[in-house]
Parts: sequence; structure tokens; C-alpha cells
Amino acid sequence: MKYTILNSEMIAQLERIVGQSFLFLDQETRNHYGHDETEDYVFPPAVVLKPGTPEEISAILKVANHYKIPVTAIGGRTGLSGGALSVHQGIGLSMERFDKILHVDEQNLQVTVEPAVITQVLREIVSEKNLFYPPDPSSQGSCWIGGNVAENAGGARAVKYGVTKDYVLNLEVVLANGEIIWTGANTLKNSTGYNLTQLMVGSEGTLGIITKIVMKLLPKVTNNILMLVPFYSAKEACEAVSAIFRAGIVPSALEFMERDAIDWTLKFVEGINVQINDGIQAHLLIEVDGNYPDILFAEAEKIMGVVEQFQIDEVLFADTEDQKNALWKMRRAVGEAVKSNSIYKEEDTVVPRYELPTLLEGIKTIGDKYGFKSICYGHAGDGNLHVNIVKGTMSDSDWNTEIPKGIREIFELTVSLKGTLSGEHGIGFVQKNYMDIAFNTAQLQLMKGIKTVFDPNGILNPGKIFPDNL
Ligand code: LAC
Ligand code: ZN
Repeated sequence: MKYTILNSEMIAQLERIVGQSFLFLDQETRNHYGHDETEDYVFPPAVVLKPGTPEEISAILKVANHYKIPVTAIGGRTGLSGGALSVHQGIGLSMERFDKILHVDEQNLQVTVEPAVITQVLREIVSEKNLFYPPDPSSQGSCWIGGNVAENAGGARAVKYGVTKDYVLNLEVVLANGEIIWTGANTLKNSTGYNLTQLMVGSEGTLGIITKIVMKLLPKVTNNILMLVPFYSAKEACEAVSAIFRAGIVPSALEFMERDAIDWTLKFVEGINVQINDGIQAHLLIEVDGNYPDILFAEAEKIMGVVEQFQIDEVLFADTEDQKNALWKMRRAVGEAVKSNSIYKEEDTVVPRYELPTLLEGIKTIGDKYGFKSICYGHAGDGNLHVNIVKGTMSDSDWNTEIPKGIREIFELTVSLKGTLSGEHGIGFVQKNYMDIAFNTAQLQLMKGIKTVFDPNGILNPGKIFPDNL
């Protein structure tokens, strides 16, 4: 695909739409909007626009579609698959002025939000009204709900409450041709034609620009118990995961952290006091929640009964809110801690949860074969293991030639275990050339056909999801 390089006439047209103060051509602004949290990639757009209304976005897309200018929607820039990188330059469409919670509908337990609302702010605002928005990506303090929808973000509570898609009821979307549509209805059930809403969720900005989101909420849950269980064997920690469900418990979080993940994080984050004995290889952070403390205690006891069948050290129960917050802070900081330590690549593998021990073992064997160290952690209850491959002292040439082969083998393993490439981070820019492992040509062509219907000129977030050779 050949894309148009912006000229001064096109810039003038765009400026007439957003106004001079919301169009940026300077290098500093373009660099700022040219990166997210994906490794150290920087792809500055040719121009950054900050529209204020869906109508302005519509007018921008009409211009872009006419001239075939790439348009990349930019959210909180916390993504880990490069979804917001302007890899073909063009227009970087910052959604930052769409930052309002428009309506909390307490009658229907719904909320209508604009995409630039920070996820944690949304969770806190609805919580003040005794409502609950469960999805809680680790980046919740800075990621935006629009990006969560675009990437179908997950988080620790997904194991009990589901991921972003499970809360999206209806979307206002600006299509590539500038038309503004709603994708569905504000209902909990809907069997009315194709599900355009869910097609848009997780489409990574390649099918349209999301400008309003109607989400389902739950009543607030009042109590929880949080425990940290140290295991002498990482494999046994993974085995305990499915055993907990088989014992009849659905925890509200069930997180796995390898020893290194915790050690590195404790060095990175100040003020967290967790003692770990020698020989401990992994931890499970387990939470149960509900409104009835007696039931929670019974569930916690049942979980103890399960984990005690494995070789574990003393279980830490978080007694206070402060202790709970500290443990969650530690867990959420793992990704950043690894990043601060070394150049790394992050994979977002996911398998049916019973396969987790096999996946972990396989990853370590592949690491030995290609000479890399990996730090694994993640949402074990979902079978979703984040694999951080660290460069450490590996030579640049090995890093560039051996690691892609190793990653390919890791993905082949996940797919052979009936899993897939990404559980919650998306494919974006960094995983697209592994898509052939998860999908054959017939499947990829179906997706490409959908893309073409929505975006015949391929202007929306080009260079994402689809392999280069498709
Ligand atoms: C986490 C992010 C990396 O689970 O998904 O911390
Ligand atoms: Zn995660």
C-alpha cells in the first residue's frame, strides 16, 4: 500500500477542521505521540491532531480517506503491542480531549464515557455510587478506557469478572469514510444482526475511531481476602491454579509471579516489605471477593486446603487495606520493574489454564535452547502468562536473530496447547508477523475482508495486526 505524504495544502485543510492550537508539527510533540510502552519504539506521526468532537474526527477522516493518509488513534500510550504507533507516519489522532464521563446511569447500572477517561478514574467515580467496573489492567492509573476497548484489555479481576469486551454494550464510532454510527444498543442482550460492537472491541483502531462507549456496571462488592502463597516449585504453583477451580472456587484474582519477578520488583518499588525464603521459586497472589465475610473465610480455607497439598512456605494474609494495596502495587509494577532492568520483549501468551505448567516448562526449555532468560508472571487463573524475555548480556546480533526464533517457538507451543498469541495486550505492531501461527490464510483473508469493508483505502492504523506478507 502506498500512502500519501502530507503536503502543506492537506495540513491547511486539517488545520481548518481542528484549529491552529490543536494541530502540531514540531518534532518534540510528534516524538511524544510517537511512542507508547512497547519496548523502545518511536514512530512519530507527521502531524498530531487533537480533535474535540466526533464531527471534527469525521471531517478529518474524510480528508484522510480522500488523500489516503494513514490515521492512527492515540490513547494513553500505555500499550504493549505498539497499537498506537504511527508506523506509516500520517496523522496521529490524539483522543485526549474526549475525557468526560458523560452519564452514570444508576437506574440501569451503565455508564457512558468518552475514550480518554483514565480507567482508574472511571472505576473510582462509579465506586462512589456503589457501582463496580471490574476490568483493572495493571496500567489502570494511566491507561484510557478507549485504549482498553481497542485492545480488549484484561487485568487481574478478569478471572472472575471478564475482560473489557464483557462490559461494552454500545459504541459510537467514526468510520473511515467519515460516517458516525452507533454499533448496537444499550441492552444487556442483543441478537439483532451481526455484532458490530464486539467486532470493534479489540480491533486496535483498524476499523474505526471510537468516540463514545456505553458500558455495563455491576453492584459494588464490599469485601475481599488477599493472600500471597510462596511455592518451592514454580511448576507446582501453576498446577495449584487449576486445582483451586476444580475445588469449586472462582477467585476474583489468581496471579502468578516467578521468583525473579518479585525480587526485581521489590528492588524497583520502595516501601514494600515481603520476606521471601531461599528456595522459593514462585508465588500465587490469590483474592476472593464477595459481600459476606463468612463465605469468604470458608473459600479462603478451601484454597488453603488446596495449596497445602503442594510444597509451600508460610502464607501471607494481607490484614489491612495498606497491606493489600502494597501487594497489588508490587504485582502491578512487575512489568515496569523488568523494563527498568534490561532491554526486553514482552509476550502475552494464553492457554487453557490446565496447560499452564506445560507452557511454563516449555518456555524455560526454549529459553535454554536460544540462550535467553525469561521472567514469567501474569493472570494464571486465565492461563494468561506474560513472558518477559530479557536481553541482559546477550549480544545485539543474538538478540536480533535468535530471539524471534525463540518467540516463534513459544507461540507454536501456546497454539499446540490450544492457546493463542495474546490474551490482553493485542497484536498491534510487534506480534503481527507471528499471526500465521494462530491463523491460516483462509482465516486471515476473512479478517482482511472485514478490514476492507470498513476501511477500503486502508487508512486506519496501517501496519498493525496483519502480517507484512499478507
Ligand atoms: C500486567 C500487564 C503487563 O499484567 O498486563 O502487569
Ligand atoms: Zn496483564
